[in-house]
Amino acid sequence: MSTRSQLTQQLGVVAGFDNPRVDLEQYRTPPELASYLVHVADLQDDIEDQRVIDLGCGTGMLALAATLRGPRQVVGVDIDGGALRTAQQNRQRIAARSSVSWVQADATQIPLAADGEPTVVMNPPFGAQDGNEHADRAFLETTADLAGVSYSIHNAGSAEFVESFADDNGGEVTHAYSAEFDLPATFEHHTEDSQTIEVELFRIEW
Ligand SMILES: C[S@@+](CC[C@H](N)C(=O)[O-])C[C@H]1O[C@@H](n2cnc3c(N)ncnc32)[C@H](O)[C@@H]1O
Repeated sequence: MSTRSQLTQQLGVVAGFDNPRVDLEQYRTPPELASYLVHVADLQDDIEDQRVIDLGCGTGMLALAATLRGPRQVVGVDIDGGALRTAQQNRQRIAARSSVSWVQADATQIPLAADGEPTVVMNPPFGAQDGNEHADRAFLETTADLAGVSYSIHNAGSAEFVESFADDNGGEVTHAYSAEFDLPATFEHHTEDSQTIEVELFRIEW
């Protein structure tokens, strides 16, 4: 098994969005955070030999990180076909051993048949910019229906919301972590060269 820092290095070649859409909150999760999420999930036996689904996979960062830890199957779902094309190219770049099924679909409409108890990983849109707070709720609703366990990234201060959502939907938050990353200027409203985003990562058993 590669170490976490080797995983971070391998993910360095994963390209981001060609023309990022602000309405879909398209930015690439930094390799450090993606490797953190997948390393933590792997330590909990939630990646190796498991079916892993990345909801809102974008250019594939989390799905591809999972392919490097021996999953049984990986599926990446995104609404944007252009992002999925980049994800396919990214798979070649990292020379992933496992294949990935890329599915163009709305992740909020339960795009896949329930099959076993997959591990869902996701960095969903937060809705923080457009006042549409908890846009991540619809992604959690799909997750509650699909997943055996999930790892999801949310904006800082989401613990109460995520815990009560899990409680109300037959889930339980078993682990919570804080992280931060620098997001390079991507959208017009980004006035600085980069901004530090504080996030929380939750493991939920469903
Ligand atoms: C913050 S980006 C994360 C991208 C990628 N998972 C990563 O970690 O780099 C959010 C992603 O959710 C996708 N998305 C937004 N709304 C969606 C929806 N309703 N169904 C599927 N994907 C959606 C966007 O296209 C974008 O790729």
